[in-house]
Amino acid sequence: MKLANVVPWGRNLQEYKKMFLLSQKDLQSKKILGCGDGPSSFNFEVTQLQGNITSIDPIYQFTKDDIQTRIDETSSVVSEQLRKNQNDFIWKNIKSVDELINIRLTAMSNFINDYENGKNEKRYIHQELPKLSFEDDSFDVVLSSHFLFLYSEHFDLQFHIDSILEMCRVSKDEVKIFPLLNLKNKKSEYLEPIAFTSIHPFFDGNGLLARLISNLFMLKNGYLPIIVSNENRYEYIHLLSSYNLHSPKLNTTTKTLIEENTHYNKLYDFFTKEYNNSLKILEELQEK
Ligand SMILES: C[S@@+](CC[C@H](N)C(=O)[O-])C[C@H]1O[C@@H](n2cnc3c(N)ncnc32)[C@H](O)[C@@H]1O
Repeated sequence: MKLANVVPWGRNLQEYKKMFLLSQKDLQSKKILGCGDGPSSFNFEVTQLQGNITSIDPIYQFTKDDIQTRIDETSSVVSEQLRKNQNDFIWKNIKSVDELINIRLTAMSNFINDYENGKNEKRYIHQELPKLSFEDDSFDVVLSSHFLFLYSEHFDLQFHIDSILEMCRVSKDEVKIFPLLNLKNKKSEYLEPIAFTSIHPFFDGNGLLARLISNLFMLKNGYLPIIVSNENRYEYIHLLSSYNLHSPKLNTTTKTLIEENTHYNKLYDFFTKEYNNSLKILEELQEK
């Protein structure tokens, strides 16, 4: 990333609370990771509340002076653009362009004053989606404000899938992303393909039922059921989503249910590997 291509513009805690429905209790009791928090004052303000917060962003590779210089270079240009395009926004929570500019500049100034301290305390870490260095389940809540989906023109579908799966990997409970719109204020084109896994017809046990149904075919054909080990769960979801995305949608002209492409081959190899778990369990039972 080149700082010359970055236009720093950060939100504050009040805005994060509204976007992600975070209560005071959440902020003070949950371990939170913000992905792409940039020059927002979210981390600073949560820290003031004694919360447990980590932010990652590629701009954290730069020094305080470099970021401040870039803010000075760009903030008047962004403010001017805002005034020109003010009719594209709803002025309800924030009442005017001047109020908005004031909120952004105050948030960035709070960030800058906290930055070096926060870097020493490992609250601001230079990392980039789609790969994070944290262990599985390291956080209670993982957030992305104004990065994923918003920059759909700059980052492709695979980047979005990889990033969301990575956020799920490091989160124990929840991943929250806001907004779901792109820079043209339209629903991101990636929303639909990514949301396919959310078609869960039952209140509970959807994954369980899906695995039961798929294993029915194995059992009917004289095989053991496939048991996907917990540590390979993310690889499984990843390969399944990639195959789903690279296969034609089922419709009335569908002739074959399986599209034998490279994604299918990878899924096939994965299941073959995981089948060994079932064989191992059987062997252990036979030895007893
Ligand atoms: C529009 S700003 C949003 C800043 C902050 N989240 C907010 O809402 O005020 C987008 C941020 O995404 C960061 N970003 C760009 N590429 C990224 C990546 N691969 N992983 C994580 N963050 C990234 C940028 O550096 C920038 O700080």
